[in-house]
Amino acid sequence: MVKVLFVCLGNICRSPMAEAIFRDLVKKEGLESKIEVDSAGTGDWHIGNPPHIGTRNILDQYNISYEGLKARQVKAQDIEEFDYIIGMDSENIGNVRRLANPNQSSHIYRLMDFVKDAKLVDVPDPYFTGNFEEVYEMVTEGCKQLLEEIKKEYNFS
Ligand code: 4NP
Repeated sequence: MVKVLFVCLGNICRSPMAEAIFRDLVKKEGLESKIEVDSAGTGDWHIGNPPHIGTRNILDQYNISYEGLKARQVKAQDIEEFDYIIGMDSENIGNVRRLANPNQSSHIYRLMDFVKDAKLVDVPDPYFTGNFEEVYEMVTEGCKQLLEEIKKEYNFS
């Protein structure tokens, strides 16, 4: 099983959106038995909360399920357990790296680094910008490229 963890700050806007979109892509490719998906936040303010209404609205619009998603905080053990830790922005990456042993951070990536010639390397935080559509488009592209990368790496066809 390949385990993928998406990480943002609050785990209510960007990373649960990425979790839902990536799970949907994995399901459409019939890879649910091979790829496990989760998300977490570096902050603790929203533990136990469902995704933000903006994230729910955009996922509803594109018919993508977010059933059962509840915010949780990332922990050091996650870095040992997951094969891919995918941060939404550079700050998330810095915060996750601080949790990891120095020799243990080679599987921590920034989502948009999977997208060639991406206009922005950090997914803007819609909690502050209010632009959930922009996040949806960026996260969808990032997730598609990430899935291609994993398929190549693990020889999933
Ligand atoms: P997210 O957005 O990191 O994409 O989930 C945020 C949600 C909540 C807060 C910050 C960012 N907050 O400060 O409560």
